[in-house]
Amino acid sequence: MDAADKVEAVLRYHESTKHQFHRYARSTDTLDWVNQPNAFRRYEGAPLTQLPILVADEDPLSPRYDDIYRRGSVPSAPLTIRSLSRLLEYALALSAWKRAGGTQWALRSNPSSGNLHPTEGYLVIGALPELSHAPGVYHYAPGEHGLERRADGSAEWFTQLMRGFPPRAFLVGLSSIHWREAWKYGERAFRYCQHDAGHVIGTLRIAAATLGWSAVVLHGQADETIEALLGLNRAEDFASAEREQPELIMLVWPNDSAGPWCAGAQRVLPLGLDPLLARELMTQDWRGTANRLSRDDPIAWTAIDEVARASRRAIGERDGLDLFDTPAPAHRNAAFPDGPPAGRIIRQRRSLLACDSRISVTAERFHAMLARVMPRVELEVNRRPMPWDAMAWEPRIHLALFVHRVDGLEPGLYVLVRDPTKLDKLKRAMHQHFDWSEPPGCPADLPLRRLESGDARQLATQVSCFQDIAGDGVFSLGMIAEYRDALFTHGPWFYRQLFWETGVIGQVLYLEAEAAGIGATGIGCFFDDPVHRVFGFSDLEFQSVYHFTIGGPVEDSRLTTLAPYGAREEEELKRRADHG
Ligand SMILES: Cc1cc2nc3c(=O)[nH]c(=O)nc-3n(C[C@H](O)[C@H](O)[C@H](O)COP(=O)(O)O)c2cc1C
Repeated sequence: MDAADKVEAVLRYHESTKHQFHRYARSTDTLDWVNQPNAFRRYEGAPLTQLPILVADEDPLSPRYDDIYRRGSVPSAPLTIRSLSRLLEYALALSAWKRAGGTQWALRSNPSSGNLHPTEGYLVIGALPELSHAPGVYHYAPGEHGLERRADGSAEWFTQLMRGFPPRAFLVGLSSIHWREAWKYGERAFRYCQHDAGHVIGTLRIAAATLGWSAVVLHGQADETIEALLGLNRAEDFASAEREQPELIMLVWPNDSAGPWCAGAQRVLPLGLDPLLARELMTQDWRGTANRLSRDDPIAWTAIDEVARASRRAIGERDGLDLFDTPAPAHRNAAFPDGPPAGRIIRQRRSLLACDSRISVTAERFHAMLARVMPRVELEVNRRPMPWDAMAWEPRIHLALFVHRVDGLEPGLYVLVRDPTKLDKLKRAMHQHFDWSEPPGCPADLPLRRLESGDARQLATQVSCFQDIAGDGVFSLGMIAEYRDALFTHGPWFYRQLFWETGVIGQVLYLEAEAAGIGATGIGCFFDDPVHRVFGFSDLEFQSVYHFTIGGPVEDSRLTTLAPYGAREEEELKRRADHG
């Protein structure tokens, strides 16, 4: 396939997986419950190191939630097994078990479409006391909150691999098991896997921020290199197991360095790894074989295989910004001493299942939430704010909002232009009768515009697959991608990045809702073209790719909540009590 064929294949996939009023995207007619994939991958035979279970008030202590958004206000924690444990807890760990009747299921720090969790996490890290005296490649096992050591790397190899990066930097890799989502959602599942990966970019970047660390997606990375580095290309280790597709590698590093990497210094980060060094690992001994997730072989959804092939990134396909700087020195004084700890907000994040249609938020809170998804470069430091500094590419997603109950704001349709240089482009593409007025009280630097006043509750519910949460919430929204231009400018692989960007927006909004005392839910099920018609998009220039709602939660009293790592947490509390 040449580049044009690949873009064609991506466009075809996107069209054929649209939900229409008269036809949902292709999936099986009924759910084959016996064949439901296991949500926990394990590598049998790979040694497991359990990470310490940390209690909320234990070191490393969580900063205040608002402080993670203030550049330089969280001092960098040293890299230890405990801080690594925190990072993975806030990014990928179990957050609770839920029980209803005779069934029990786990929730995680990262949300996932249908709670099916297609995203697997890996770590490539140097020697670390209590983990290993030599660098290695690990798979993260959320059920155990542990790391399975898949392969060893020599100290020289790791030094070479990380050349050009800050000291003590390490890598977190993500892959997707498409089958986990496709089992339930059929052909549309590839989209959901990409959203989920985006949510994890968000959880990882935010988890790093609670430790005063930085993180960035190394998006100059060929998929083949990711496979070699994480061992995903080792057919022999997946003999009877469902395969994983490479998604991305993130670089994570503490901001405690001296010299050229000291806080506030400007450096150019290479946003990719040397493919030859990654391939060197292939000659190492690897440990463990992947477990089988479903009884029967996966249903072959050829549309997913085709789009996965077409949107693979080859070696040499890269673009984006290479310039990156380290955050300014930490002030070590929290600006919001009374706000909730970030860790509490992260741990308590849940999707709302129903909305209390009486709850509203103030316009001030609404504007503050929207300000957090603005990726604008902060001029004085020439850098995007957290978490947008994790994605060194131009933002391509805008928000089309259905506002229902924001005190002081007329209900109706609004738009948030996340890249203000695109305002005119959006104006031309949307209905000509929209008024584009600046809402009263809107901060001057927030590019929010009112399109049309009116009650949009029913409309929001209808276009979100008739889900009441979209109409009963405070507001809901469609995430509008600069679709055609992004694919033709960057390449077919950028299709996945569009979805990743929406996942990060969703993650920020999930936490913002928790911090505001309300709730949120990602909405993957919506009627694509009917949404376009609501806003006037008539061609492929813009496409809505993810929906989201924010509202007052309604508790389901039939559900019991249990601790994520119950017995181990009790042991830890007992140990602390015994030691005074
Ligand atoms: C990409 C994505 C799409 C989702 N789509 C829907 C949806 O259409 N309707 C819904 O009720 N929940 C949706 N959810 C919420 C998930 O069902 C929820 O994240 C999952 O059950 C785990 O629960 P938790 O978020 O409370 O941890 C979606 C979540 C994600 C990340």
